[in-house]
Amino acid sequence: MIERALHVLEDHPIFDAATGAVLTLDGDCELDACLMTDAGRIGAVAGLRRTRHPISVARAVMDQTDHVLLVGAGATRFARHAGHPDWNPRTPERIAWWKHLRRNLALGRTGPDVRFWKRMSAWHRTYGLYETVGCCAVDARGRFAAGTSTGGIWMKLPGRVGDTPVPGAGTFADRWGAVSLTGHGEGVLRLQLARHACDLMRRLPCQPALESAARHAAAHGVECGLIGVDRRGRFGAARSAGWMQVSGSGATGLRYAQGV
Ligand code: GLY
Repeated sequence: MIERALHVLEDHPIFDAATGAVLTLDGDCELDACLMTDAGRIGAVAGLRRTRHPISVARAVMDQTDHVLLVGAGATRFARHAGHPDWNPRTPERIAWWKHLRRNLALGRTGPDVRFWKRMSAWHRTYGLYETVGCCAVDARGRFAAGTSTGGIWMKLPGRVGDTPVPGAGTFADRWGAVSLTGHGEGVLRLQLARHACDLMRRLPCQPALESAARHAAAHGVECGLIGVDRRGRFGAARSAGWMQVSGSGATGLRYAQGV
């Protein structure tokens, strides 16, 4: 179910995942995804290129290999072997915006999409929005799973990996709940926020647990949004920054999860 819900979101060009993913500083898409169940089964990919459904490649890592995380060229090669053909995720809208951001970087200007990158203008000569998508689910037997898929953040350095494919950071499921995050990957990685939110669900219902995790993020200056589900099937969504589109990307995943 998680996988199917994320296919819909990965195919929609409005979201920063697969088709519509934001572009790196050199204008490419590097895709990250992770799938995790409460039984400790995990598959993840990072820096995957030219693939329509990164979440399914993550699933293939989980189901068909002895590994947890494949990256870069190895991940792309594995995707082809696993039956995922070449696919161009770069949309004309993203390419046009990338050109605009490149011009601004060249002029030393920053803006909302590149505000996390304080040292990037030094790199723009060398190298050529958020809205990660996520889904959390619990089945009738109380088994949890979480999945997240993203293109990362505009103008990231090639090779940069965010929180999404790292279990415990952007994606986590255990016997207390499941959580998926969008937001500033470096900050979410440092705080291991998905795991932190699931830990809070040991004693709190989903919504207050996510709100507490969001406050924790805000206290550390981390801009993020979380969706989750707890043991009693209660879904929630929270964000640490007002502009975060948890009700866009996150809650879209949430609605799919609720539709089960
Ligand atoms: N949260 C997505 C990323 O930072 O890559």
